[in-house]
Amino acid sequence: MTWTGSVLAMVVACSTALAAQGQAPAAAPVLPRPGTVNPHTDDPGAILSGQGQFRQRCANCHGMDARGHRGPDLTLLWTAGRTDAGVFQTIRMGVPGTEMPAAIRAPDEDIWRVIAYLRTLAVPAATDSARGDAAKGERIFRAQCASCHRVNGRGGRIGPDLSRVGVSRTRTALTRQLRGANEDIRPGYEPVTLQTSSGQTIRGVRKNEDMASIQIMDTRERIQGYLKEDLRDVVSEKRSMMPVYGPDHLSEIDLDDLLRFMETLRGPIQN
Ligand code: HEC
Ligand code: HEC
Repeated sequence: MTWTGSVLAMVVACSTALAAQGQAPAAAPVLPRPGTVNPHTDDPGAILSGQGQFRQRCANCHGMDARGHRGPDLTLLWTAGRTDAGVFQTIRMGVPGTEMPAAIRAPDEDIWRVIAYLRTLAVPAATDSARGDAAKGERIFRAQCASCHRVNGRGGRIGPDLSRVGVSRTRTALTRQLRGANEDIRPGYEPVTLQTSSGQTIRGVRKNEDMASIQIMDTRERIQGYLKEDLRDVVSEKRSMMPVYGPDHLSEIDLDDLLRFMETLRGPIQN
């Protein structure tokens, strides 16, 4: 066993002992040192068990084949330059402010097994992701999208912040969103039209709602709360506020440029 391996084993043993006393607080979890390599890489038993855990706990968001669904494609992690220790940390801590949950209570061994499984799926970068011109894509974005979407602190707020969209969504998911093939409307951004009892019509996206009240962001980006007793009607719209960009509005070439730009939006750097 290597030095790092035995330290790791000690850490695991300690935390298990603590847990056995039944009083381990949900204290700061122990993270591997940078440069630590997965002790289970190439271990067939661990890979199989990692596959089982992945299907149960991750496939829902990352897809059965790990190629991305609501969460990103995980087959490109290593080609994107992530390390075993960095991936461990992401799984352990989650990504705050996103749907990616923290696995605070999972034993280290389980996390390493999932990583061992993911390693077997790693593929070289897809060549088609090299299509498009990011600088042109950025210009299209500023002209057509920034009025509703923020990137690194600039832009509108009617739609979600896209500063990390290059990590959180696959190319396929982005294409579906732009071409209008995505039926799911992101929670917190469902379009709604209110009729006040004085006959005013207000459009916006729903931020919160309970039996007695509703809170929306209106099209002028003001957060507004209403008591339902003061409203004549609350209509949930079926169509997202996000326009559909068909080929007549956004050519295949412009789409490639835009996707290329969006792939560069990766938020703060991690490895
Ligand atoms: C509820 C949905 C959800 C579940 C469940 C989930 N993830 Fe995620 N995961 C996400 C999202 C969304 C992101 C992108 C977060 C961001 O914006 O950076 C992500 C990001 C990641 C990343 C970082 C990807 C990168 O390119 O940096 C890894 C690694 C990861 N998830 C692994 C896992 C594993 C392993 C599991 C199961 C133990 C899991 N996730 C469960 C939604 C989920
Ligand atoms: C009029 C406002 C508006 C404009 C213009 C707009 N969007 Fe959106 N967009 C939204 C809203 C609202 C949502 C969230 C609702 C939904 O899921 O459809 C959204 C969702 C998205 C998402 C999905 C975000 C996620 O959660 O994964 C992406 C990606 C996106 N937009 C990209 C773009 C791009 C690229 C453009 C320009 C070509 C654009 N949008 C133009 C309002 C807009």
